[in-house]
Amino acid sequence: MPEIAGVLSSRRILPSTNSFTGEEDSKKQRHITFWDKLVVNGGGGIKLGFIGKCIAVILFVLLLVFIFARSRGMIDCGSYPRLSRLYGSDTGDEGVGFEFGSLGVPWCRSKQGKTVEWTNEDLLKGLEEFVPIYETRPIKNNMFGMGFDHSFGLWFMTRWLKPVLMIESGAFKGHSTWVLRQAMPMSDIISLSPRHPEKYLTKGPAYVDANCTYLSGKDFVDFGSVNWKSLLKKREISDLSKVLVFFDDHQNELKRLKQALKAGFQNLIFEDNYDTGTGDHYSFRQICDQSYIKGGGHICFKDGDEARIRSERKKFWEKAVDIEELCGKRDAWWGVRGQMRDNFNHSNRVISYAEHFQNSRFIETILDVYWELPPVAGPSLTHQTRYDPARVSTPIVEDGRFNLFQKLGLSKLEASTFNGYTQMIYLQVSAPNTKR
Ligand SMILES: C[S@@+](CC[C@H](N)C(=O)[O-])C[C@H]1O[C@@H](n2cnc3c(N)ncnc32)[C@H](O)[C@@H]1O
Ligand SMILES: *[C@@H]1O[C@H](CO)[C@@H](O)[C@H](O)[C@H]1NC(C)=O
Ligand SMILES: *[C@@H]1O[C@H](CO)[C@@H](O)[C@H](O)[C@H]1NC(C)=O
Repeated sequence: MPEIAGVLSSRRILPSTNSFTGEEDSKKQRHITFWDKLVVNGGGGIKLGFIGKCIAVILFVLLLVFIFARSRGMIDCGSYPRLSRLYGSDTGDEGVGFEFGSLGVPWCRSKQGKTVEWTNEDLLKGLEEFVPIYETRPIKNNMFGMGFDHSFGLWFMTRWLKPVLMIESGAFKGHSTWVLRQAMPMSDIISLSPRHPEKYLTKGPAYVDANCTYLSGKDFVDFGSVNWKSLLKKREISDLSKVLVFFDDHQNELKRLKQALKAGFQNLIFEDNYDTGTGDHYSFRQICDQSYIKGGGHICFKDGDEARIRSERKKFWEKAVDIEELCGKRDAWWGVRGQMRDNFNHSNRVISYAEHFQNSRFIETILDVYWELPPVAGPSLTHQTRYDPARVSTPIVEDGRFNLFQKLGLSKLEASTFNGYTQMIYLQVSAPNTKR
């Protein structure tokens, strides 16, 4: 792929978000010397007219360049006026610092500290391949279902893991079934969802896969009630490392994990890995948000630094959570204001911090790999305004890399498709005391 190779190598000469601050400083210094000179010359009454003309010419040229760049979409100043002020960016694109992860990105600890095989470069190559596939999706508007980031994540990981069987819990109109099918055209799919995706066909587009076993409608069985042993035996599947389970059913993820472990499944993907204080079910992100984990834990103190930063960020990002929303009235910051939610928030049991803490310790005894999909691209590129960058890892395509964003075909997609990012995760798990 020569195109992408060129793109990748050009990356090194671009300023990173961190070096941006340094760049700004040196620019400021240059300005200071220039203005100093002007004042000295002006004070002496010499050549002020000349310098004044020079400034006029320079300003005029800069104006022309600006108008040209804006008309070419290279500069976007309309969308982020407030953010630009907050982060001191002048163009709204190149080098915008959205302070990714500055409020912490809790990361569940695995038994051996193992991580995934794929790199950011693999993800970039995957994006180049996936965008044209995504454009052929049957369900163009998948409101309440997966958007671009998670569709890509599911496709990429499935194709990497090459399962012989894919199990999906929570199908809705079938978009994720379609994504799984694109990743593995010849593998079996079992889809569990109370309502059969074909039911949506009367109202609009839906995807029904010809080679998928649907446990839905009158055949619906909850994932936790399926007799997996006999079902897998019937299909002559004995190697459970070749099975991928995908959950997008808004159930307590601790409950789903225990059910999956009991059946012996090893590769799990969870779509909605809601952040602490948000969401309608207990998630891994919430469980592993612990003071002893890097990037984890919270301080409910109303006048504290965290409270101040959170209330500031709440002005810019729809899903940002301020300290009151995070902690509630009892200073219970874990889960959602001290609740362990399940089944689309139909159940929301209050749990103690001790129980919550024990849950995270349990996760650590069964976890081999934990990996959160980063957002595909930074907000100055995608124009998403929902998730707060301060709580997520650095995007695959970083802010400021508009050429790469465009080259990958991502600029053709509707902005709303980048709004659904909720830290999708891949987990590799095994029973306690087993090493892999
Ligand atoms: C957010 S939607 C899934 C979106 C879908 N994966 C997509 O790609 O667009 C959640 C789905 O879970 C289904 N659901 C509800 N309870 C469930 C359960 N116990 N097991 C499996 N699915 C369930 C809902 O009916 C709904 O279709
Ligand atoms: C179903 O799978 C078989 C092979 O297992 C394949 O020949 C057939 O084309 C598939 N059907 C569809 C609609 O994908
Ligand atoms: C969750 O349910 C509780 C009541 O059981 C309700 O007070 C709360 O607003 C619900 N939250 C969401 C996000 O639906």
